[in-house]
Amino acid sequence: MSQNAVGIASLALHLPPLALAVEELATLRGAEPAKYTLGLGCKTMALCPPNHGVVEMAATVAERALARWEADGGDRDRIALLGVGTESALDMSRPLSAFVADALDLRGALRSYEVKHACYGGTLALRQAVEWRLSGAAQDKVALVLAVDQALYAEEDPGEPTQGAGAVAMVVGEPTVAAIAPISHPWSEPAFDFWRPVGEAFPRVQGQLSLDCYKRAVEQCFRGLVGDRDAAAVLGAFHALCFHVPFPKMVKKGVFQLGEAFGWSEADTAALYRDKVEPTMEWNQLCGNAYTASLWIAVARALAGLAAGERIAAFSYGSGFGAELLTLTAGPGAAAAPWRADIEADLAARRLITSDDYTALRAAESVAAE
Ligand code: HMG
Repeated sequence: MSQNAVGIASLALHLPPLALAVEELATLRGAEPAKYTLGLGCKTMALCPPNHGVVEMAATVAERALARWEADGGDRDRIALLGVGTESALDMSRPLSAFVADALDLRGALRSYEVKHACYGGTLALRQAVEWRLSGAAQDKVALVLAVDQALYAEEDPGEPTQGAGAVAMVVGEPTVAAIAPISHPWSEPAFDFWRPVGEAFPRVQGQLSLDCYKRAVEQCFRGLVGDRDAAAVLGAFHALCFHVPFPKMVKKGVFQLGEAFGWSEADTAALYRDKVEPTMEWNQLCGNAYTASLWIAVARALAGLAAGERIAAFSYGSGFGAELLTLTAGPGAAAAPWRADIEADLAARRLITSDDYTALRAAESVAAE
């Protein structure tokens, strides 16, 4: 790893305190449970009670990442950038980062802002922090990057079983956990696949178009990475391939799109998916789509336990649409993976609710929104 490498110095995760099994939702909606479990690949969706929304999730995850970093000798005075990727903004003007800065008492000589591009916003905030460090403008300062969302669809919307929530925090500076390669592979095309007009509480979705856009973005970004080399050899060199996870079946479709594009046999594509992709989604299946945080939850799972020098790829997708493929190299802090404890603690503390509780929760939200 080069002496000037930039990356993740500290990593933390947080899931909110409620969850609903998709089978419960299926019963409530009169759907076949297998449609949600096998058809979409979902298990449980994380949900936020009224007193634990995006600000509380962001503050909790940020405190975890900072405490871990400080225990390793980090100093909060070095934070000169607070970037928050989210599509759960509370205000059209005031950035979510200002709410978070209030909660963390962060003020002074720092840039603090929110980044919006659907599920791609967290990755954009991370890339800005990485490029700020690489440019030299950061000097010895570090960035605190957060990706936090609560994904809710209208009740009975086809997207409802894919709902979720979660938050990821990364201190961007020395690559103790993972180095992030300076070169990445973006692709964007304007589309109305999933969007939420100003003033509306829930997204509008063109389901089939969103699937097609995602698959197209996967193919284009991976073509950017592979170039004129042998795709199987290039991807085979990665320990894991992580994807934005709107629901696990979408990721499988993306991988099979790659297989088709690169001319692999079905068996080879299935083996790649089984060995390098499916295991990264273990935690995503427990929290559902956490929008900006989804990819980084998969990355956290993939990095956990890696030896320094092992590499992973990370495909980010945000509707609208924008995508980017990053590559990371595990640092010495990946093997111990202290962020596993975040997931274990949150899973142990969270309450699985019934379909009746869920109906009441949604009703309370609509009253609060009025
Ligand atoms: P749908 O149209 O109700 O579902 O909702 P379907 O009829 O397509 O069925 C889904 C799958 O279940 C199919 O599998 C069925 O065959 C299967 P496939 O053929 O596709 O492999 N199925 C069953 N399997 C077993 N037993 C059964 C059974 N019945 C059916 N009994 C849809 C699907 C994706 C449209 C919906 O969930 C949705 O609108 N989701 C939200 C949009 C979305 O997630 N799009 C993904 C790409 S866009 C993205 O990733 C960005 C996003 O994260 C937002 C952002 O960027 O901010 C969403």
